[in-house]
Amino acid sequence: MNITTNKIRQDFLNFFKEKKHMILPSSSLVPYNDSTLLFTNAGMNQFKEIFLGEKKIDYSRVATVQRCLRTGGKHNDLENVGYTSRHHTFFEMLGNFSFNDYFKKEAIEYAWELLTSKKWFNIPKHKLWISVYKEDDETYKIWKDIIKIPVKQIIKIGDNNNIQYNSDNFWQMGDSGPCGPCTEIFYDYENNIVNNPESFLENKNHRFVEIWNIVFIEFNRISKKKIVPLKHKSIDTGMGLERIAAILQNVFSNYNIDIFQQLKQHISQLSKVKDLNHTSLQVIADHIRSCTYIIADNITPSNEHRGYVLKRIIRRALRHCHKIGMKKQLFYKLVSTVIEVMGDSGKILKQKQKKIEEILKLEEIQFSYTLEKGLKILQHEIKKAHNNMLSGETAFYLYDTFGFPIDLTADICREKNIQIDLNAYELEKSKQKKQSNINQKFYKNYNNITINNTCVFEGYKKNKTKSLVKYIFINNQSVSIIKKNEYGIIFLDKTPFYPESGGQIGDIGELYNKKCYFLVENTKKYGNAIGHFGKLISGKIEIKKYINTKINQVNRNSIQLNHSATHLLHAVLRHILGEHVYQKGSLVTNKHLRFDFSYQTPIEISQIQDIEHMINMYIRHNILIKTQILSLEEAKKQKAIALFDNQYSSIVRVVSIKNISIELCGGTHTKRTGDIGLFKIISYSSIASGIKRIEAVTGQKAIDYLHQKDNYITDLSLILQCNNSDIKDKITNLKNKIKNIEDKIIQLQQKENTYYITKLLKNTYDIKGIKLLIHVFNQYEHKLLRIITDTLKQKLKKTITVLVNIINNRFTVIIGVTKNLLDHITAIQIMKMIVEKTHTKGGGKKEIAEGGGIYTEKLSIVLKNIPLWIDEQLDKK
Ligand code: ALA
Repeated sequence: MNITTNKIRQDFLNFFKEKKHMILPSSSLVPYNDSTLLFTNAGMNQFKEIFLGEKKIDYSRVATVQRCLRTGGKHNDLENVGYTSRHHTFFEMLGNFSFNDYFKKEAIEYAWELLTSKKWFNIPKHKLWISVYKEDDETYKIWKDIIKIPVKQIIKIGDNNNIQYNSDNFWQMGDSGPCGPCTEIFYDYENNIVNNPESFLENKNHRFVEIWNIVFIEFNRISKKKIVPLKHKSIDTGMGLERIAAILQNVFSNYNIDIFQQLKQHISQLSKVKDLNHTSLQVIADHIRSCTYIIADNITPSNEHRGYVLKRIIRRALRHCHKIGMKKQLFYKLVSTVIEVMGDSGKILKQKQKKIEEILKLEEIQFSYTLEKGLKILQHEIKKAHNNMLSGETAFYLYDTFGFPIDLTADICREKNIQIDLNAYELEKSKQKKQSNINQKFYKNYNNITINNTCVFEGYKKNKTKSLVKYIFINNQSVSIIKKNEYGIIFLDKTPFYPESGGQIGDIGELYNKKCYFLVENTKKYGNAIGHFGKLISGKIEIKKYINTKINQVNRNSIQLNHSATHLLHAVLRHILGEHVYQKGSLVTNKHLRFDFSYQTPIEISQIQDIEHMINMYIRHNILIKTQILSLEEAKKQKAIALFDNQYSSIVRVVSIKNISIELCGGTHTKRTGDIGLFKIISYSSIASGIKRIEAVTGQKAIDYLHQKDNYITDLSLILQCNNSDIKDKITNLKNKIKNIEDKIIQLQQKENTYYITKLLKNTYDIKGIKLLIHVFNQYEHKLLRIITDTLKQKLKKTITVLVNIINNRFTVIIGVTKNLLDHITAIQIMKMIVEKTHTKGGGKKEIAEGGGIYTEKLSIVLKNIPLWIDEQLDKK
């Protein structure tokens, strides 16, 4: 049977363990402390500071299996995924590292032994070809003379375009950071012997597949133009696990190794496609791995930075799911298979499985809203494309309106041999940025509109209507028509869109008919009229014509959960804190709720928990939420809570949850309390004297919030290597351990002090019968300097001590003067002189003074001149 990928991963680590390497875990896909990098793209990333000599460690040989992502940034493989045999967004990199330990010879020998020895991977030697950096004769000779590779199989690779170090055989992690020449080992997938380098170069990456890159880290790239040598030489190597697995499992494509076979089989079961080599199967198999690992490393889909990369990958995968008939939220089901096939590497995913699945499912629900529509438009535009070029406007329109990331559109175009006018796309993007500034101003000015219209709100019962366009406003002007790309406000005779009021935000959604599409971004009230704010995406809208309306129901549902939860909160606050609690303000959005209320005393955590407890109990009771239209008098009889500052008409709407909560309210609500799912307070604070604020989340958002907390705890337990329940003990133990170590250090340093004191005593100046002792310590404990000063003062008579400690470019100084000298000179006097000359800070008493600041040349000059200065001071007395 073929060796499994999981065994290869383990063999690699075992081999380097035998070679005295420390086995370290993979770091997160989110680089720690490195803003130059979007995602971890190589095994060496987590060791960047060590390569640069900025961080010291206790070991010099390390091996890892690092999870990597090459999407975005210098190394970006996204667009090739699915179309080649060896490109992935996510992959695992096997790497061994030497920090100022072994160098070229051993690194090459280790790689060669692992690949070719019978005990390990046993690859026939004649199948391996080597590339070296053209100027690296030393490496060339190692391969030729020590490893005995035939010279025809060692290819020298030079610089591209004559730019120094711009070569396939000079590796750099990004536009800055550690780098150096490298040598690569290739596997020849064919059997007929070739004898010339040209044939190798032509077939590189197809017949000849790079499997292992050994980098000789010798430089630090500071900027595009500047590169400086490093003090220490190190080794960084990387071997793609999927590639070596393909070779050892005798398959040509990485997508045919055991891991991907299993994933593709699952996708095939969920779809209509039975051909396991179908491009979409490969894309989905690749993307589900990257999405799973990215979310496990605590990134969620969003519109910026890492979150947007994730969103792009998910959406590209969902498009392929759609293409092969996986239309109904099936993508997330693959997460369990990823965990299963990834063996040891999948362990970190297990605890986060539910969260990953939920996030993927939610993203799918949200995207399905626009995917189908956008696809139709794109297909139509592709048919119309001139010279096989899709216009930048269309690509931008799909991005802006339907949430199609540009690489998703490019992926579809590529299947039809169509290119995108990317320049025009970028131009559209920058135009939109300008427009959105104008747009924001426009929204601010909406109050200037006066309008005499009555709109019937039908949104309590319906989520769509056919409505008559009564008025259109653009830039505060009433117009009869709105055209493509214009922002405006549309007024209708009736609408299902809830206008912002009573703390509840306005609805979003769409106004459309066959020829036009208006995206509603907000809804507001103007007296009896309701304004639909937004942008006309296509066609035109004219007054006196009919149009279809449809709210975004997913968004509305989330708002409703928060609104009903707000009523429960209000009631429960009055129950727990007292009837005098009075609402001062409320905000109900699709994301959270905020409730301000009058209450004098601080709220305890136990009260917060009681509030949560009670609200969640009402949620579990799944109580019907009733609305009635009553006269104000009747409402008052029912003891409905009204806001005293508000003016109510004689007919009011009453929302009641049994007799737990009865409120006058115009907002929209869920049918039953159970729909809220879960209520969780995320913050409580005091915002003004006697006014408290509570913020809370409900439904899926509440679950996400709890998951975030769980993940945080899980991350802590991974760092501390213990169970979640042991974290507290572990931290207490660690704190005690640190305290013990600190005590030990002090003891050791005290011993060292005795040594210093003896040494210091030998190095004193004698000025007019007074001993002067000056010493500069490096990275010493400041506390101990004080102890030395005190000891010296006790031991000696007529002595001045000046002890300086330098830590990372800063210094501290302690001056000590024995009692019997105080009539002649004082510590504070010396300190003042130092402060003046070095422009730093300091102070103290006659016998002892301390100071410090940034270490500069000025201090060393002062120290040199102190004997003379003291001599002068003594003369003055
Ligand atoms: N850092 C090297 C690479 O990624 C080994 O290829």
